[in-house]
Amino acid sequence: MSGSGDFAALLTAPDVRCVDLSPAAVDAASAKGLRVEVADIQDLPFLDGSFDVAVANWVLYHVHDRALAIAELARVLTPAGRFVGCYNAPGHLQELWSRVGGPLAADDFNADNGPGELRRSFSRVEVREARGEVLWETRERVQTYLDAYQEMYGALTAPAGPYPFRATRRNVVLVADR
Ligand SMILES: C[S@@+](CC[C@H](N)C(=O)[O-])C[C@H]1O[C@@H](n2cnc3c(N)ncnc32)[C@H](O)[C@@H]1O
Repeated sequence: MSGSGDFAALLTAPDVRCVDLSPAAVDAASAKGLRVEVADIQDLPFLDGSFDVAVANWVLYHVHDRALAIAELARVLTPAGRFVGCYNAPGHLQELWSRVGGPLAADDFNADNGPGELRRSFSRVEVREARGEVLWETRERVQTYLDAYQEMYGALTAPAGPYPFRATRRNVVLVADR
């Protein structure tokens, strides 16, 4: 769930451990010098109470048994530990998706339903809004972004213009205390 480790590589905590289900992501994170292994968020290879903080950005909507994954994140935290995760709010990048016929439906786990699901395993959940803008300089850059969705949604074609292309980023940071 660390993906290729771009976020984890920025952390200054003394002991950062990463997992991801994808061997390719694990290889990419390992190449950044991160301590990383293949594992499923629904069955984390860590003892109870191992960590002060657990991070899972844009992961929980991929998971088959989300309640189990959330319970696992809580399990590996110390009693004063904290979960942090960045997710999307409905309407995220709508200027782009409305032009390409892609996903305008909200993610399965998002800013609206995420807090309620987290409350089943965590004592306190806070939602911090993180709005902004994404700007793509060229059509090729939008196409590269859309190509990452090919497996899920089929081929999507970047809008003809105008460029730079701007879309509103509607994100939240979910912060949950164990
Ligand atoms: C949208 S990417 C986000 C990656 C990273 N967190 C980031 O923000 O760049 C979702 C990641 O979750 C991983 N993933 C999906 N299901 C998983 C599971 N059950 N257990 C662990 N990782 C999983 C995928 O392999 C992918 O790397």
